[in-house]
Amino acid sequence: MSSIDKIKDEILKASSVSSDELEAYRVRFISKKSIIGELFSQMKDVAPADKKAYGQSINELKSLAQNKFQELIKSLEGSGPSIDPAPFDLTLPSAKGTLGSLHPITITRNRIIEIFEKIGFNVSDGPEIEDDWHNFTALNFPPNHPAREMQDTFFLEKDPDIALRTHTSSVQIRVMENKEPPIRTLCPGRVFRNEAISARAHCIFHQVEGFYVNENVSFVDLKQTLFHFAKEMFGKDTKVRFRPSYFPFTEPSAEIDISCNICKGKGCNICKYTGWVEIAGAGMIDPNVFDNCNIDSEKYTGFAFGMGIERIAMLIWEINDLRLFTENDIRFLDQFKSY
Ligand code: DAH
Repeated sequence: MSSIDKIKDEILKASSVSSDELEAYRVRFISKKSIIGELFSQMKDVAPADKKAYGQSINELKSLAQNKFQELIKSLEGSGPSIDPAPFDLTLPSAKGTLGSLHPITITRNRIIEIFEKIGFNVSDGPEIEDDWHNFTALNFPPNHPAREMQDTFFLEKDPDIALRTHTSSVQIRVMENKEPPIRTLCPGRVFRNEAISARAHCIFHQVEGFYVNENVSFVDLKQTLFHFAKEMFGKDTKVRFRPSYFPFTEPSAEIDISCNICKGKGCNICKYTGWVEIAGAGMIDPNVFDNCNIDSEKYTGFAFGMGIERIAMLIWEINDLRLFTENDIRFLDQFKSY
């Protein structure tokens, strides 16, 4: 009887603050192998005269232990989410994984490369930090050409000048210095100019340079190549026109317009009601440029062109603000998932 009193005492004092402690209580007082279970199995050794009283007290002990167990469960339930019987709604559909998309500049660059790769162009790369020779001098820029001045170029060092490249034409020099003709390559990349950021101008943008050097390359080859490109890129009804222009590194030089693919040439605010939009500069590589790269300008001729990737992306998707490309606004970027 004294051990029954001791157990009673223990039960009355029991408290649990964690599910582990609750489990320990269950094992000690409730389970089949608990000390109370043990007392039941000792019933057979109790003298017949005492059986009734013994039975009564161990039954009382059992219900005391069980009531306390319920109490402990309740107090633990109230204390936190750890034994919440239904912490999750397992019938809910799972969270949707969000798919990203390629950036419209990447999509446009890839398309340009795809079109030119089919007609034999490969892809070349060059550094974004350039010296004066590759960005200007070797490209036949006269010493006092305005493009060299501070308002256009981000100079990193002066004398000798090191700058962020202002165009991908610098890669023409890098490739021609290192390769023998025939060369037929594209050079896509970032370029930098010290311009105030607005809807129509940015200090960082992307260009693709392309050039072909071989024996007997003519202006006809240039025209045919860009005609082909314009029709592949903007549709077969696209018209192309060449306007005379000037670049230090090409002679003759031209600017290339296509019929506005937004109003189909009728006139809209994108083409400033002219029906035409400029997409590239181009020309026949100046013999001075060949000489600067140790390519025989008597033997070889070549054409080159350069275009802005943003400009082409804007025409394809009717995007009217350059800043959208760099703001990382998900609402803008989400629209390119299907490309
Ligand atoms: N580099 C020129 C620019 O950034 C674009 C250009 C014009 C590239 C004529 C060429 C070219 O290769 O022949 O404005």
